[in-house]
Amino acid sequence: MKEMELPTPPKPLADPPKALTAAESLTPLIESTYTSPDLFFYLNGKKVILSNPNPHWTLLDYIRAQKSLKGTKLGCGEGGCGACTVVLQVKDSQDQRKIVHLAVNACLFPLVGIDGKHVITVEGLGSVASPHPLQERIAKMHGSQCGFCTPGIVMSLYALVRNSYNVETRKFHLSARDIELEGHLDGNLCRCTGYKPILQAAKTFITEDLKGQLVEDSTAHGDSVEAVDITGLVSNGSGRPSKGSCGRPGGCCRDTPSDGSSGESKSECSSPSTEPSSLSDEEFIPAHIAVTKEPMQDAEVSGTTYALPLKSRENDVQDTSKSHPEGIKTESSLQAPTSGSKNGVPQIEFAEYIPGTELIFPPALWRYDPKPLCYGNGRKVWFRPVTLDQLAELKGVYPSAKLVGGASEVQVEVRFKNSDYAVAVYVSDIEELKQTKLPSFGALETAEELLLSANTPLTEVERMCKDIYAKLGKRAMVLEALRKQLRYFAGRQIRNVASLAGNIATASPISDANPVLLAAGASVVVRSQSIGLSEVPLNKFFIAYRTTSLPPDGIITHVKIPLHKAGAREVLKAYKQAKRKDDDIAIVTAGFKVRLNEEGEVEDIVLAYGGMAPKTVESVNAQSALLGKKWFSSETLELGLDNLTRDFDLSFSVPGGMAHYRKTLALSLFFRFWHESVSELTLGSVDNDIIEEIHRDISTGIRDDYNPNEQRIVGKQIPHLSALKQCTGEAEYIDDMPPQDQELFGGLVMSSKAHAKLLDVDWEPALKMPGVAGYIDKDSIPKEKNVFGAMIKDEPYFADGEVRHHGQVIGMVYAETALQAQAAARAVQVTYEELPPILTIDEAIEAKSFFKHNRALKKGVAVDGSMDEAFAKCDRIFEGKTRIGGQEHFYLETNAALVIPGSEDGFMEVWSSTQNTMETQEFVSQVLGVPSSRINCRVKRMGGAFGGKESRSVPFAALLAIAAKKERRPMRIMLNRDEDMLLSGQRHPCQARWKIGVSNEGKLLALEADIFDNAGFSQDMSGAVMDRCITHFDNCYEIPDVYLKGNVCKTNTHSNTAFRGFGAPQGMYFTESIMYAVSEGLGIDIDELRQRNLYKPGNWTPFFQKIDEDWHVPLLLKQLGDSSNYETRKAEVAKFNATNKWKKRGICLVPTKFGLSFATALHLNQAGAYIKIYADGSILLHHGGTEMGQGLYTKMCQVAAQELGVTVDAIFTQDTQTYQSANASPTAASSGSDLNGMAVKNACDILNERLQPFREKYGPNAPMSTIAHAAYIDRVNLAANGFWKMPTIGYQWGDTNHETVKPMYYYFTQGAGVTEVELDVLTGDHTVLRTDLMMDVGNSINPAIDYGQIEGAFVQGQGMFTIEESLWLKSGEFATRGPGTYKIPGFSDIPQVFNASMLRYDNEGKPLSWKHLRSIQSSKGIGEPPLFLGSTVFFALREAVKAAREMNGAKEPLALDSPATAEKMRLAVADDLAKRAQVVQKEGERNFFVAVA
Ligand SMILES: Cc1cc2nc3c(=O)[nH]c(=O)nc-3n(C[C@H](O)[C@H](O)[C@H](O)COP(=O)(O)OP(=O)(O)OC[C@H]3O[C@@H](n4cnc5c(N)ncnc54)[C@H](O)[C@@H]3O)c2cc1C
Ligand code: FES
Ligand code: FES
Repeated sequence: MKEMELPTPPKPLADPPKALTAAESLTPLIESTYTSPDLFFYLNGKKVILSNPNPHWTLLDYIRAQKSLKGTKLGCGEGGCGACTVVLQVKDSQDQRKIVHLAVNACLFPLVGIDGKHVITVEGLGSVASPHPLQERIAKMHGSQCGFCTPGIVMSLYALVRNSYNVETRKFHLSARDIELEGHLDGNLCRCTGYKPILQAAKTFITEDLKGQLVEDSTAHGDSVEAVDITGLVSNGSGRPSKGSCGRPGGCCRDTPSDGSSGESKSECSSPSTEPSSLSDEEFIPAHIAVTKEPMQDAEVSGTTYALPLKSRENDVQDTSKSHPEGIKTESSLQAPTSGSKNGVPQIEFAEYIPGTELIFPPALWRYDPKPLCYGNGRKVWFRPVTLDQLAELKGVYPSAKLVGGASEVQVEVRFKNSDYAVAVYVSDIEELKQTKLPSFGALETAEELLLSANTPLTEVERMCKDIYAKLGKRAMVLEALRKQLRYFAGRQIRNVASLAGNIATASPISDANPVLLAAGASVVVRSQSIGLSEVPLNKFFIAYRTTSLPPDGIITHVKIPLHKAGAREVLKAYKQAKRKDDDIAIVTAGFKVRLNEEGEVEDIVLAYGGMAPKTVESVNAQSALLGKKWFSSETLELGLDNLTRDFDLSFSVPGGMAHYRKTLALSLFFRFWHESVSELTLGSVDNDIIEEIHRDISTGIRDDYNPNEQRIVGKQIPHLSALKQCTGEAEYIDDMPPQDQELFGGLVMSSKAHAKLLDVDWEPALKMPGVAGYIDKDSIPKEKNVFGAMIKDEPYFADGEVRHHGQVIGMVYAETALQAQAAARAVQVTYEELPPILTIDEAIEAKSFFKHNRALKKGVAVDGSMDEAFAKCDRIFEGKTRIGGQEHFYLETNAALVIPGSEDGFMEVWSSTQNTMETQEFVSQVLGVPSSRINCRVKRMGGAFGGKESRSVPFAALLAIAAKKERRPMRIMLNRDEDMLLSGQRHPCQARWKIGVSNEGKLLALEADIFDNAGFSQDMSGAVMDRCITHFDNCYEIPDVYLKGNVCKTNTHSNTAFRGFGAPQGMYFTESIMYAVSEGLGIDIDELRQRNLYKPGNWTPFFQKIDEDWHVPLLLKQLGDSSNYETRKAEVAKFNATNKWKKRGICLVPTKFGLSFATALHLNQAGAYIKIYADGSILLHHGGTEMGQGLYTKMCQVAAQELGVTVDAIFTQDTQTYQSANASPTAASSGSDLNGMAVKNACDILNERLQPFREKYGPNAPMSTIAHAAYIDRVNLAANGFWKMPTIGYQWGDTNHETVKPMYYYFTQGAGVTEVELDVLTGDHTVLRTDLMMDVGNSINPAIDYGQIEGAFVQGQGMFTIEESLWLKSGEFATRGPGTYKIPGFSDIPQVFNASMLRYDNEGKPLSWKHLRSIQSSKGIGEPPLFLGSTVFFALREAVKAAREMNGAKEPLALDSPATAEKMRLAVADDLAKRAQVVQKEGERNFFVAVA
């Protein structure tokens, strides 16, 4: 360590007066105590000693730097998505004889923390060749689409499965409750699947193998666990423990053979349960599922036969198959996840779960003896003391040293707030701090307080709270309140490492633990060299915003929590309201305590709040007003509410926004507490409805898993071809590609202003940073080339003179590593002169800030006359303004690219995470000044895209290309999540100003609307989005006279872009909102109104497309209505609402139609495919479609296999590239399968024709190897290029001639959804009780993939219409730019009952046929259409809010804009609490946040 350089950070004021430098202070300690710079740990079973690693690295940085460990992903870097989840196998701090498995976020976890631990990554579980049952089941049950989230989810489940074995009781117990309700998956997000298949795969562990509970036979395992002597284990020196358990479900290394193939544990795992599993554990999985000892194959689907290499058989074609009847199997990813089917019902077979094959706890780690550590470089140093004395000494000599516990605050500060703590001290391995020793039960019974070690991980605190509450009951009510807060505190991965000390020391105003602790009268025990030991009550600890009274050298050693006195009349409760229930920071969080005297008067009361002030506060006036008052009295309740409104007199523009909602919540939570306490203290009877919070049950759901139209290959539920690779971490994304020789990484310099003149950009400081190789900006390319755009070139790659949105790219630094490049980019100094930004649609309208677009649809009198005529004929006219916010794509893989310059002719290979290879190729060729033919743009797969990588991915490849050309070196970039959210744009926020005329009977007669989308600072595809918006404004309804005008607003936000649905969901949302307004205005039931206005075959849409006989919406409404029991449930909802005041339910049945084709860009409706059959019979397929998780490659392989008469794994698709598919349209508009499928078929037709003579010669059953080889020998061209262009379409805007007009859409995918919800009127919280979806997808090519699209799109739509809300600050700064502030649905947001089905029959039960459908295999595009059905959640919630408003006597029509956030719904309820919490907007005051719709 002598050579180690120590940093010299700026001296904080708090340092000792002698003001020694860090080096002076710490060197003696390093020399005496911290002599080791080595981390010793195990990684996937292998020992690692890492000497003096990079001190800036997190565990994720280290893992991803390993060549073979790319499965652990970076999705956000802030602990909010779970993509980086790994498992730490460690000794249980409560019982050192046990092993526990902790899922942690590697992106936050400090590398220093792995010393002495066993790190397990997804690669440690299994591989494609030998997958872990979890990996296999998730793959086979379609739980992985794009796969970027999958390794993280596998790891969270792995921890759960492994922790389900209890060494003491020898039982393995894993229930559906564990999987769904205990928060083990709350730190993982998936944007593709809708979670349902993942949950179902996880549940196979409770229903199939392990029968809910496995009890070990003690005779089979020798010594009882209680007899284990760990001391002996540690010192026996045998290299592995002789006793004790490694915690492996079903057994451990001491009782199974070391090769792990124990038949013993295998048979035990499948032994019947001794305890019946609870009903809830028995999830209904419709497909037939069997557990087999060996993975099985369906011969029809996989297991193709290939011949030997050509040389060995060139003389004897026929003998090939004879001499090798089995053929040669390929190493196909399909080997494991193959599923077959019987009579259209999928048969899924799993390999048995054999616990004996699990990774054991490395014996060397039993003997591990922690030592003080120190490593670092000139910029940063890590210390890892192992005793509290060592820590106190270190803090004493150098108080500025930053303590790091779980790092869930610290690492976020390092990564996003640019706080680089030069001296960091990892405290979570200090036994005295991390290990809480609980008193024995006897001592607990009389204990007055609980002393928690300050850095005890929150999961353990949660567990202790639960255990102690179970033992002590009400005396431990504070612990029950704390447990409740912790259950909804961050995600499991964070709770596994984060601490109370970290939460308390941070003093965040929205801390969840602090209000409870404050209410309980808790204190912290502080040790400091200067002051000694002290105890500080929490009400003296929080001083100001994120400021505490902790002395600079102070260490929180314990948290002291008083327990409730036996017999005292006391109640303590905690509450939290956030945007999303799981893993979200609070809007308001509270801890309340009241103690009454014998007379029922208030003797003591604490009302502690988070989210109401810059720090956790008590409601001082309310408390003193309530003291001495009789608690059970409505006057007391009133008094409390009254004083709360005074204590929290928030201003309209309060930081954090939501003043009215926060204030309403402050009252509502108190209101709930008062009722709950009255009930608990049995003071009187209260409405239970007020007390109950929204309750979620274990989810269930079915797919109508049956396909009557299944063919040999097409129509079968084949798992995504990459699913298993994705589950094992072997699937490669751009950032996983091996390092290129000499490669550099780009770091973007981005504008911190929304609108400003660029006065100066000084990049010199960046060039001085370590590893930096150069910088490029607008001056690096000719001015005329500094421009791109999907439809109109109006967007500069690099800002030139002015920035027009927050985050706009000004320049790019490139350096040896990504971290260096990002740090250097932050060092570039930019001077701005700020200009006023335009953010909202209203502001744009006022400023007349539009892009030229101006497309309109006219129908009926609007074509030649005036809409006034149409309105004059109407009985009633309704008008309104309706808004819908945008939506962030939140694909799990952010934008990434890698460019590799060739050495000759200007060639460049461009790997990009893009949906659009052609556009990437074109723009790269433009900036390089070479023809497109010199650029090969390639993409293997994307970790999700959803439209966000159709055009917005292009500039990143172009920027890299400019730098790569300059430096002649490969360049790579992967955006951080916040960068991606700042740059990639979103779904368009939209607004409609509408007027509708109707007859008294409810016939829609005339519609006029001005529709606006917020395009942002450049056009991108905003015009086309508006076109689709207005051509879906009709949804499913016939209106004779229509005039729709589309306007595209120019603002200073990022440039909005394509997103699944492309304007259609917004258009249909407007229509359905109008339908509700009409229904309520006329008093006609909404379902009746819909029926009266549904299209019929022969009707014309506003874009003059005739509704044909394939119009199935009426069928869908009828069949879904019946199967979901809609009418009965609707009546039950009405009954429920009549009898419940504080919970309201809503239900709705909404139809949808979605037009297929690139509507307004005719030329994009074409595709090419290239198929090569090799002489050994193997087949290579290329087409222009890209794989983003939607299963396109799988479907295309199915089409090719079906057409060529081979098995699926005979077809290989490696990637999409412009050198194979020229001029490929973007994979978008749900047309990937339609266009490419037909092109593939065309290529197959060509090849089949050429192969026909050989098929005739060798017979129909001859394998492809025989036929291909014979054709080759006969000099037949076995490569074919297929092509297809969509016929019939070709709408010309303005063409209103019924005779000549061409259709805009090739066909309509149709569907319907029923959703029922429950709303907590007091908070605005909700849950989706049940959703039923039915889609007309034609003849599905692969129903499993299509169900996945239906469920995934629905949940994405659900998020869009409810919890997903993008917000800006008044200055134009984009505020919601990470998972911490922008919430997409998580595992526990999906409908509790979630059913999906496909339309297959007419109402008489006859198989359906599609008369006009001329698509590939008569299938329909499905990617986008179901998304709009997410609006059923919105409209059901609207019904619930309406019911609450009716109860509260609200008179005005309900105007609820999307998204229906908890805030909007709570305030719309319009009850007394919301009214008395009203916050008046004073002159000049603006909301802290701005929504831009
Ligand atoms: C994705 C995400 C979600 C989150 N969700 C929530 C949430 O729902 N509710 C909530 O309240 N918080 C939440 N947080 C914040 C954070 O997780 C908590 O504050 C957590 O308790 C911090 O603990 P830690 O051990 O990780 O602290 P660290 O990050 O290690 O440290 C935080 C601060 O505490 C100091 N510190 C740590 N230990 C000691 C000690 N023994 N003595 C003195 N100072 C010490 C550190 O120096 C640092 O200043 C979230 C954070 C993330 C990243
Ligand atoms: S990358 Fe770690 S949680 Fe998202
Ligand atoms: S499969 Fe989960 S994010 Fe794509």
